[in-house]
Amino acid sequence: MDAILATLEASGAASFFRVSRWGYAALNATHVFAVALLVGSILPLDARLLGMFRSVPRDGALRMLVPFAATGAFLAATTGALLFSVRASEYAGLDVFRIKLLLIAAGLAGAVILHSRDGRLLQHASAARLRIHAVLSIICWTGALACGRLIAFAGN
Ligand code: HEM
Repeated sequence: MDAILATLEASGAASFFRVSRWGYAALNATHVFAVALLVGSILPLDARLLGMFRSVPRDGALRMLVPFAATGAFLAATTGALLFSVRASEYAGLDVFRIKLLLIAAGLAGAVILHSRDGRLLQHASAARLRIHAVLSIICWTGALACGRLIAFAGN
């Protein structure tokens, strides 16, 4: 494990972002943008699955918000991996970082399982299952956001 972390830290991308102040700032800002896109589309979607905003058709909300959420998730994962590579050994040792990764994995797994089981537009899901999913999803994604921000205050 230590060897993998050291290899990541020695990569060209990690070396570049470690010394480039504006490169790192741009990467960090892109991560924040991705997180905003992801959480900003998942929360209204979960609110709809909880039964709020019933005048908005559920199909329409899903068709509009899922692509934004998926794009945000992809961008957050790629920029997050690059941020991680800059100080891989340090981040890997932080509890708050590990909790963040667990919450992200749980949030992603929940979404994939729900959509593969109940259809792209969740047409086969019961209202109760949608409500349980929405509550867990809100916990996972807001928790990941909070842990992400807390990383800066943990460790040395
Ligand atoms: C696999 C995906 C991800 C990885 C590897 C990752 C990794 C990181 C790293 C290394 C940092 C820099 C921490 C620091 O030194 O301050 C960071 C910042 C942050 N991350 Fe992620 N992240 C990922 C996905 C996410 C997601 C999905 C969210 C939100 C739901 C998120 C929220 C944040 C926040 C809020 C910050 C603090 C940004 C700031 O205030 O400068 N991250 N992330």
